[in-house]
Amino acid sequence: MVSRLISPGIYWVGALDFDRRIFDELIPLPEGTSYNAYLVRGSEKTALIDTVDPAKEFELISNIVKLGVERIDYIVINHAEQDHSGSLPMILEFFPDAVVVTNEKCRDLLVALLHVPEDRFRVIRDGETLSLGNRTLEFLITPWTHWPETQLTYLREDKILFSCDLFGYHYAGSELFVADTAQAYRLAKRYYAEIMMPFRGSIKGYVERVKALPLAMIAPSHGSIHRSPGFILDAYADWVSDSVKNEVVIPYISMHGSTQKMVEHLTEALIARGINVRPFNLTHTDIGDLALALVDTATIVVATPTVLFGPHPQVVYATYLANMLKPKVRFASVIGSFGWGGKAADTIVKMLDHVQVEVLEPVIVKGQPDEATLQALNRLADEILKKHKEINLL
Ligand code: FEO
Repeated sequence: MVSRLISPGIYWVGALDFDRRIFDELIPLPEGTSYNAYLVRGSEKTALIDTVDPAKEFELISNIVKLGVERIDYIVINHAEQDHSGSLPMILEFFPDAVVVTNEKCRDLLVALLHVPEDRFRVIRDGETLSLGNRTLEFLITPWTHWPETQLTYLREDKILFSCDLFGYHYAGSELFVADTAQAYRLAKRYYAEIMMPFRGSIKGYVERVKALPLAMIAPSHGSIHRSPGFILDAYADWVSDSVKNEVVIPYISMHGSTQKMVEHLTEALIARGINVRPFNLTHTDIGDLALALVDTATIVVATPTVLFGPHPQVVYATYLANMLKPKVRFASVIGSFGWGGKAADTIVKMLDHVQVEVLEPVIVKGQPDEATLQALNRLADEILKKHKEINLL
């Protein structure tokens, strides 16, 4: 790996992980990821901002050494998750005089997760500053920009915000700065869906706070650097807003074709009524794509056959994830087929307890859908149309 100059005295010293395909053993990484760490040289002090995943710690050290850095005074840790903090123990051995600068909650987590000695820390509060001589770091404590200890670091004179997970995206690309805005938008929205969406309420306020800063760049710890910060800030403002789209997302499984027929009929009925539809066959759905679709859809219809006495386990998994991610979806329903036990709809509805939705009458049929079932699906499509009109989506 190589270090890269961002502006005089400020370097990217992180690592690209082209081959990684899953994060937290949960999140698919179709485009790999990067762990961005930054070196900031002031006239008196030098700071490293975040580290990298421990699998890449030698790349971080190599990048720093190749720059001829002999002393690091401060290591700012914005987030204790190991993809950013995991190389800290090694860096602290390499630079024995370096002080770890972070907030109290993050300090406690770093002590617990990495056994960093307590005497290596300098604890900062929200709004506190740290001088590097001709440069000043300002800290913004922003809990739940993934974990409860997360913070942002703002380099005042250069107007650069080091935002860690916030505003980032999983992408192992050699472009230091965002080059393809359509690609960056799609990947950042997916990242928002997977990581930030459960904390939409808090993030709204942080977006406003960041917008008030003079900004030349936003440098996250995954993906490329935003040289046009307005692009990502406007995107976030939209995603965290209360507005939803005239769209229905249908995650589904079908074992013997009955639920498939119902999904197909409902899809056509919705399209005929001017409503966009995104069916996701869960046998081959990338769960990140499903999360992305949930960011601003107005309605979710879960479609499941009955296995033994409940919903299909793949549907349970998708519903559990959707509930955890807390999308701003307004309406929900369940459709599907059963052979001898019809409790699947109740189970799915009960699982959606973290999502504030109005539940529309489920359509559950014994065996193959018949004409009465198709008519019931038409009525569900009518009801969805009515609800979307009520909130001015049509
Ligand atoms: Fe990129 Fe929450 O770690």
